[in-house]
Amino acid sequence: MKKLPHALHTIALRLNGIERTGECEPRTLLSDFLRYRLGATGVHVGCEHGVCGACTVSIDGIAQRSCLTLAVTTEGRDVRTVEGLARTGSPLSALQVSFRRHHALQCGFCTPGILMSCTDFLARVPDPSESQVREMLSGHLCRCTGYTNIVTAILEAAAIPETAPAAEATAGSGVTTGPAVAAGPEITMRRSDTPTDV
Ligand code: FES
Ligand code: FES
Repeated sequence: MKKLPHALHTIALRLNGIERTGECEPRTLLSDFLRYRLGATGVHVGCEHGVCGACTVSIDGIAQRSCLTLAVTTEGRDVRTVEGLARTGSPLSALQVSFRRHHALQCGFCTPGILMSCTDFLARVPDPSESQVREMLSGHLCRCTGYTNIVTAILEAAAIPETAPAAEATAGSGVTTGPAVAAGPEITMRRSDTPTDV
């Protein structure tokens, strides 16, 4: 039987502040589109059915599972991945610094998705309790089972005093990465205030 050709759609979206286009089939998942068409390999794929949270990205400011999203539905939308939190050569976000300090990165597989959910979460819940952090993290399955360090890092990032103006990241790229922070132990600026939602 003759195989029918798959229709390709050209998708134009804004990825981490930069206008991008790419072709995909109607059935292509956003996770695959971001990784294989646009090169955003910071988007990790674990379960591919919405359970593990590794593929979490921000779409129009809302954290969502990219493995449950068809790429064609993101036409014209604003998509952010972990690469957008701190571009090469730019300061890390307070959350990223805190993750590094507390070894919350561990193997790093689930980290991009957790960082995207956390960025969203802390924008909506700026002073969370430990139980709120743990509830938010329940949407992420970490095979390293090291939630303690992750919780500690999130709570520390939440406690950073808001003493500096919101930071811009890469000049000219239009990417907002959240306020810049020092990579060392003295964090003096606050986390991203990007409005997002889990
Ligand atoms: Fe999307 Fe697991 S890969 S939730
Ligand atoms: Fe290893 Fe979460 S850090 S799976």
